[in-house]
Amino acid sequence: MRHILIVLSFMFIVVNNYWLNCVAENDLERLHKIQSLLCVPNKTDTAIVDKVIECEHKHNITAEGIAFAKKLETKLTDCSNKANVSAYTKVDQTVMVRKQALIMYCDKEFFNCLVKVFVDNKDLMNEQGRIDKSQDEAVKAKTYQCVLDVFKN
Ligand SMILES: *[C@@H]1O[C@H](CO)[C@@H](O)[C@H](O)[C@H]1NC(C)=O
Ligand SMILES: *[C@@H]1O[C@H](CO)[C@@H](O)[C@H](O)[C@H]1NC(C)=O
Ligand SMILES: *[C@@H]1O[C@H](CO)[C@@H](O)[C@H](O)[C@H]1NC(C)=O
Repeated sequence: MRHILIVLSFMFIVVNNYWLNCVAENDLERLHKIQSLLCVPNKTDTAIVDKVIECEHKHNITAEGIAFAKKLETKLTDCSNKANVSAYTKVDQTVMVRKQALIMYCDKEFFNCLVKVFVDNKDLMNEQGRIDKSQDEAVKAKTYQCVLDVFKN
């Protein structure tokens, strides 16, 4: 779980604001761009996924962010169980963190499920909004650039 926290916190931001209909243009564009590059089942392989995960590793997540993700762990697991990334046959999914990264970025069911978690729980939504405000845009931009660089060659 810890390894994918940055992806998660990014997804929380998009999902939460997506529902509120005020997702920052920037964040949604970034998500769609990453999806267009990463979510290509017959192209994306183990090495690509590992590099994307590595980008997330370079940046620390706050203790507050970790606590929040922990709180959501059961719901996240439920949402993940509905996901299907079996089309990504070039990715060795026996390593859980790879499968999780694919699910979070690429599975539409997971996204919708996560939206519903926030919609159904206003306290979580508000808490996420608060955490989001404390997150450093520079860090988000750096992580995003790192992911883009994975696909440069
Ligand atoms: C991957 O699939 C797409 C759509 O099905 C196809 O257009 C493309 O040529 C395929 N690429 C490879 C490398 O097989
Ligand atoms: C991340 O946190 C660890 C331990 O708290 C620290 O040693 C490291 O320098 C931090 N890395 C970054 C990129 O901030
Ligand atoms: C998962 O998706 C694949 C196609 O990508 C499909 O063949 C398979 O039946 C799906 N599995 C489930 C459990 O829905």
